[in-house]
Amino acid sequence: MKELLAKPGFLAPSGTVGADVSYLLALVFTLMFLIAWGMAKKGLGTRHHKLIFVSMVSMVVYFCAYYYARQLGVLSFEGKEGFGGPQEVYDNIFVPILTTHLILVTLGLILSIYMICQGFRSCSRTSGEYRLRTGELKVSAGTFKKILLTLVGLWTVNQVILIFVRHKSFAASLAWVFIFGTAVLVVYLERVFEKLLPDGAQRHRILGRGTMIIYALILLTSTLTYLMLYVIYPKT
Ligand code: HEM
Repeated sequence: MKELLAKPGFLAPSGTVGADVSYLLALVFTLMFLIAWGMAKKGLGTRHHKLIFVSMVSMVVYFCAYYYARQLGVLSFEGKEGFGGPQEVYDNIFVPILTTHLILVTLGLILSIYMICQGFRSCSRTSGEYRLRTGELKVSAGTFKKILLTLVGLWTVNQVILIFVRHKSFAASLAWVFIFGTAVLVVYLERVFEKLLPDGAQRHRILGRGTMIIYALILLTSTLTYLMLYVIYPKT
């Protein structure tokens, strides 16, 4: 598989199959999200929800493959691997674009999971069609506690498995602290959103637009990264 991904690509002369396929997939998934936005704007709630769901699942699979199999981001941070341009361009343009891209990808992933849950909570389904429900949308104190306790419980079980069954390093435990910590943070953020935007439908529209803009920026920054690595400053 690694050899196939490293073969010459089909989009740019110095690209690789791995870079080209992952860039094309990023393009397709982001466009699917933006089409889903267009559907919501036309009031097609159910089609919007279905397309969002398919795009979301495909995007998560893509992100995992991209960052774990190819590790482009990590490689590019480790001393200019793959970047053939001058040091000033690398330091002042390439690294800031790549850093912005990685931050947006993390934010986009967190927000999409949040928005899917928020979408279901703020909708009612009448004759098979999803419609946003106007009115206050709030997690009750009991449910809030249950969610936090479930997260702490899951983290504890995972920790026991990591240490006693899989004998993983301290770094692995730290990574899981970060993952569960992010989930807890999102649950608390919901409390902040509830105060700022009490109406569930309005919250979905405003946060949804913000999320869609982040997806568009992810596409922009991944295009710039691709162009700089394989078209403008390829490694010779
Ligand atoms: C990543 C997840 C999601 C994002 C980013 C998102 C984004 C959006 C945006 C931006 C709008 C407003 C469109 C506009 O007026 O500009 C919207 C409306 C809507 N969304 Fe979502 N959404 C997501 C998930 C969901 C889910 C899971 C459901 C249903 C279960 C849903 C149901 C709806 C409905 C019914 C509308 C209103 C359409 C209308 O105006 O009639 N959304 N969404």
